[in-house]
Order: sequence, then C-alpha cells, then structure tokens
Amino acid sequence: MKFLLEQVLDSLPDALLLVYPDGSLQHLNPTAEKLAGISLAQANGRPFSELFPGAENLYLRLNTTLTTGRSFTIREDELVNRAGETLVVEIRIEPVHDLKGSIIGASLLIRDLSAFKKMEEELRHADRLAIMGTIASGLAHEIKNPLGGIKGAAQMLIREVGRDDLKEYFQIITKEADRVNQLISELLAFSIPKSIRLQSININKLLDEVLNLEKQAENNHRIRYTRHFDPSLPKVRGDENQLKQAFLNLIKNARESITQKGTIQCTTRMVTDYQLKTEKGRTARMVEIDIADTGCGMDEKALTNLFAPFYTTKKGGSGLGLAISHRIINEHQGFIQVESILKKGSTFRIFLRALK
Ligand SMILES: Nc1ncnc2c1ncn2[C@@H]1O[C@H](COP(=O)(O)OP(=O)(O)OP(=O)(O)O)[C@@H](O)[C@H]1O
Ligand SMILES: [Mg+2]
Repeated sequence: MKFLLEQVLDSLPDALLLVYPDGSLQHLNPTAEKLAGISLAQANGRPFSELFPGAENLYLRLNTTLTTGRSFTIREDELVNRAGETLVVEIRIEPVHDLKGSIIGASLLIRDLSAFKKMEEELRHADRLAIMGTIASGLAHEIKNPLGGIKGAAQMLIREVGRDDLKEYFQIITKEADRVNQLISELLAFSIPKSIRLQSININKLLDEVLNLEKQAENNHRIRYTRHFDPSLPKVRGDENQLKQAFLNLIKNARESITQKGTIQCTTRMVTDYQLKTEKGRTARMVEIDIADTGCGMDEKALTNLFAPFYTTKKGGSGLGLAISHRIINEHQGFIQVESILKKGSTFRIFLRALK
C-alpha cells in the first residue's frame, strides 16, 4: 500500500513537497525535484526556505499552516528556483495531521503555469492578428475605391491641362497613389485567411527552392548562402506555398540585414532533446530550421516588436513580413524563436512538427 501510494505521488504532474513541523524538507516527488532544481537526496532535511530564494510570502504562509493548520491556495505567484529560473506557479498549502489530529507537517502542491502562460500570450498575439486582419480588410476596401478615383482624375487632368510645367506634380499624385495601392494589396493579402492545403513536405527541398529564388534576387554576390541540411530529416505536414512564403520573408530579412558582405546560413535538423506534448499526451518529434545571418542584428526594442504588424525600421518596409511568417508557422502548430546580437547578426529558429 505504501509503495503504491509513493508511486502515485511520484507520477504526479504537479510538484509535491512535504515538510516537517520545523519547516525542513521531508519529501519531494520527481516533478518537485525538477521544478526546484534540487534532488531529493540533496534536499532531505534542509530548510524549505532554501529552495526558492526570496519567496518570503510563501514561507510566512507555510509557517502559518504549520502552526495553526490553516490551508492556503495561491492562484498565481512567481518563484525563482535555485537555477535562477523564474516560474509562474499555483500553490496549495495543506496541513498534514496524525490520527489524533495534531499537525505533523504540511504538504505543498505546486503547479507550473509557465507553459500555460506562454501559450496564453501566443493566443493573445494570434487574437490581435485576427482582429487586425478584420480591420485591415475593411479599411483596404474603403481606401482602394477613392484611391482609384484620385488616380483617374489626375490622369485626366494631365491630358486636359496639357501644361508641361505641371506634369511632374500629376506624376507624383499617380506614383504615390500607386504606392498606397500596393500597400493596401499587401494588407489585403495578409488579412484574407488563405485555405491551407496540407501535404507531406520535404523541408530541405523547399528551402533549396527558396534559397535559389533569393540568390537570383541578389545578383552581385555580396552574400554567401550556406546550407547544412540533415539528409535524413523527416517530412513535415504543411501547405507548401504558405511555408515557402514564411521562409522567403525570413531569408529576405536576413539579406536586407546585411549591408555589405556577409553570410546567410540555413540549417535543418531533427530535435531530439525537445519533445512537444501533443493534446493526447503523446510526444511529437520536431524539425528545426535555423536561418542565421551575419547582418546588423537587433536591439531590445526591435526584438520585442518584430512580430507586430507594421513594425519596421526600413525605409519603404511594410512591417508585415514577420507578422505573416509568424502566423503561417503558428497555423502549422509550430513556433519561432529569435536570437540576435547587435552588429553581429540574428538567428531565427523555426520549429515544426515532424511526420511520423
Ligand atoms: N534578420 C534580421 N536582422 C535584423 N533585423 C531584422 C531581421 N529580421 C527582421 N528584422 C527587424 O524587424 C523588422 C520587421 O521585419 P518585417 O519583415 O516584419 O518587416 P520589414 O522587413 O521591415 O518589411 P517587409 O517585410 O514588409 O518588407 C525589420 O524592419 C527589422 O528592423
Ligand atoms: Mg521583411
């Protein structure tokens, strides 16, 4: 019976810690060991207060439980573990009684909400994009019509007035109207959700095609493109055109970040140390695609804004490229990570689910 009970406690997805009445640690299940960054053997008998530096509030409550028997539920709190990681957690503190009703310790059940928080954040981001899309498509239609009118009228005037000294102004009107029109078309393309056509895709081949396309766009050889492809990379389920678009935006940015000479390195690999829990609790293998440039890099401000629609630091940029890539990768249930050092370069890491 005791063995069974221990097994149940040890397989809990939440961290469980038991403390003696003096506040020293009695037991940690494996989830607690991982969360606190300490092994049961190391922790045994040590004061609980050593586990999470600076969590005064928690110690205070634990002491209250140990002395008065009161229970606590802390819906959301931040804990910093011994490895210096900040965790968002939910905590329940309960007294443990013996048969006579005396307090012989306390139990702490800690649920790590960090992954949940991150997901929530991503969802909020996706939501913002969806709202943006609706507003954008509405606006785009409203703007396109009067724009057509302005352009038409300017062209008529050029013909009617027939004065060469005014021609330049009419041309400016036409040119600027065209520019707004182009921007609006991009906005529309962004806001109309395209239907995804799922196929099994060889990512190495797809990247090859995108890189070749990019190479053609850049004909003065100032950029060296290198490929480190894992030949045994499993296939990915996705929409070929959309994924091409997503990678094209990233590689185009990499190219634009290099002002003189530089390198863009494209790497593909299987991820073995990262296992994504699927909804059914099974793990999915991931494929990682890295696009690394030796370009201008980004500062903190750019790093926090870069996926937001319309964020751009480029003259003539629309700031939609990364927002589109982000959306496409999200729709494929993947995610993007970015690392960047100012004046050194940036690496965009894309993770996609591998097919079995
Ligand atoms: N590889 C990169 N290196 C440095 N900065 C980058 C890189 N990728 C993106 N950025 C920064 O993020 C901003 C947003 O990128 P995004 O692709 O969304 O828009 P854009 O490139 O400015 O315009 P568009 O893609 O519409 O032509 C860029 O303006 C740039 O400041
Ligand atoms: Mg771009």
